[in-house]
Amino acid sequence: MARQGEELRSVEKLYDATSAALEELYGADLHFGYWDASVVDLPSAAARMTEHLIERTQVTPGQHVLDLGCGTGNPALRLARAREVRVTGVSVSRREVARANDSAEQQQMAHDVQFERVDALALPYTSASFDAAWAIESMSHMADRAVVLRELSRVLRPGGRLLIADGFLRRPPSSADSRAAETVCAAFRMGLPPTLPGHTELLGEAGFVVVDQEDLSEHAQRSITCLAHLMQARTAEFSDMFGEKAFTRLLDSLLGAELTGTIGYVLLSAERR
Ligand SMILES: C[S@@+](CC[C@H](N)C(=O)[O-])C[C@H]1O[C@@H](n2cnc3c(N)ncnc32)[C@H](O)[C@@H]1O
Repeated sequence: MARQGEELRSVEKLYDATSAALEELYGADLHFGYWDASVVDLPSAAARMTEHLIERTQVTPGQHVLDLGCGTGNPALRLARAREVRVTGVSVSRREVARANDSAEQQQMAHDVQFERVDALALPYTSASFDAAWAIESMSHMADRAVVLRELSRVLRPGGRLLIADGFLRRPPSSADSRAAETVCAAFRMGLPPTLPGHTELLGEAGFVVVDQEDLSEHAQRSITCLAHLMQARTAEFSDMFGEKAFTRLLDSLLGAELTGTIGYVLLSAERR
């Protein structure tokens, strides 16, 4: 329990410290890009990924969606506008939550979209109170995936859909080339992601059945080198945030060819039984 509290505070500190700087690199959508002919840089690729996620979210107007790990709130606001749904977004970072609620106010969406400082491992919502949920690149930060999935299963109504965008391990973590992945995960306060069968098993144990699985590695992986080059151009700023040595190791790992061989990127759609 004490370790979980420490891990939570360390993720909170990370996002309080880096969210604004990362937003200057990614744009307002803090996730990997979907690279295709229509995109020109990381912000347009990240925005294209949000579009892809919105297209694959099974909701009808008026339904209520939980965005677990909401970042700046921009993806949730886009979802609410595009699909006419209500969204509650949660994050551990108070800065992100304040920024997200400001955006909702400015866009006159605050009636339908709210953001709260909540730990995903202990959701303060009643059972079956949401119709759908997103977990976009957030679960790797959470101390116990099984607990988070049980919480999601509890707050989703039967038949509700969960959309997860996340990494997956292509090889067992013991192989030599997993060192780069471990360095990146340590810098961003993440655990190594499960394998694809591991994702399915964890979802099954929590009461979900996987209904669609899309391997987006080919579309997403250019984001890694792109992010590394953008961070490298601001070495002084990011060295301050991560520490000089850790930042040098992080850049080496992000730019090393092994990483994409070790970690892939998947979009999983699962139904609450
Ligand atoms: C990489 S960002 C992704 C943000 C957003 N989903 C997006 O795609 O733009 C990860 C997010 O997960 C949130 N997060 C990490 N651990 C969390 C926890 N235990 N409870 C709630 N949010 C958490 C962070 O605060 C951050 O907002």
